[in-house]
Amino acid sequence: MRLVLLGPPGAGKGTLAALLKEGLGLVHISTGDMLREEMKKETATGREVKKFIEKGELVPDEFVIRLIEKKLTSDKRVGHGYMLDGFPRTRKQAEDLDRILGQIRQPLDYALYMESTLPVIIQRLGGRRVCRNCGTLYHIRNKPPKKEKVCDLCGAEVYQRADDNEATIRTRMDVYLKNTRSVIDYYNAQGKLKKLDGDKDSEEVQAVLMQIFHEDHKFNKH
Ligand code: AP5
Repeated sequence: MRLVLLGPPGAGKGTLAALLKEGLGLVHISTGDMLREEMKKETATGREVKKFIEKGELVPDEFVIRLIEKKLTSDKRVGHGYMLDGFPRTRKQAEDLDRILGQIRQPLDYALYMESTLPVIIQRLGGRRVCRNCGTLYHIRNKPPKKEKVCDLCGAEVYQRADDNEATIRTRMDVYLKNTRSVIDYYNAQGKLKKLDGDKDSEEVQAVLMQIFHEDHKFNKH
C-alpha cells in the first residue's frame, strides 16, 4: 500500500503512521523527520533548513522534492509499501511526486486527509514531546513517558520540538491553510482522497481506515 498523509500540524499524522507501521509494516517517510536530521548534522544545508522550520515556514520545494526523489528511487524497502507523512505540501510537490511515481511505476493508493480543529491542535502540539533517538511520540498529559524526559522504549532524552510553541503553531497552521488546500483538491480530483476525523482517538481513526482498506479489497493487492 502506498499512502500520503495530509492534514494540519498536530492532526495525528505521525501517530497514525506509527500505528500503520506496526500493523501493516509500511515504511514511514516523514519529510519533517528528514529535515530535522539535516538540522542535526549542522551542515550549511542544515542551518539553512533550520531557519524555515523554526519560523514555521515551508522549506523550499526544490530541496524537499530532491530529498523525496532520492528516498523513493534508492531505498529498496519502499517497494513493500510506504506512507509519506508531511509530503506533498504544495501543488508543485504533488505534481512532482506523480512524476517520480510514474517513473518508478508506483501509483499512490490513497491520500488520507486528517481533519482537525485549532483548539485540539494547540493542546496536542503544546504538550507533545519526542524521543531524540527513536522518534517515539509522547504527550505530557495524554501519554507521558513513565520516567520524566526519558523514552520508555530506548532510554534516550525526550524533548520538546522548537516549533511546538503557540506562536509558531499558529504560523504553521496559516502556512498549511494557504498552501495545502490545493493539494487536497488535487487528490480529490484524482479520486484518491479519503477524509478522516483527526480529532478522534488514534485507534478509532485506525479502525475506520482498516474498514476502508477492507471494503476496497486493498489487503489482497501489492
Ligand atoms: P512536520 O514535522 O511534518 O510537522 P507538521 O506537519 O507540522 O506535523 P506534526 O508533526 O506537527 O503533527 P502530526 O500531525 O504528525 O501530529 P502527531 O502525530 O505528532 O514538519 C515540520 C516543519 O518541517 C514544517 O513546518 C516545515 O517547515 C518543514 N517541512 C516538512 N515537510 C515539508 C514539505 N513537504 N515541504 C516544505 N517544508 C516541509 O501528534 C501531535 C501530538 O498529539 C502528539 O503528542 C500525539 O501524542 C498527540 N496525538 C496525536 N493524535 C492524537 C489523538 N488522536 N488523540 C490524542 N492525542 C493525539
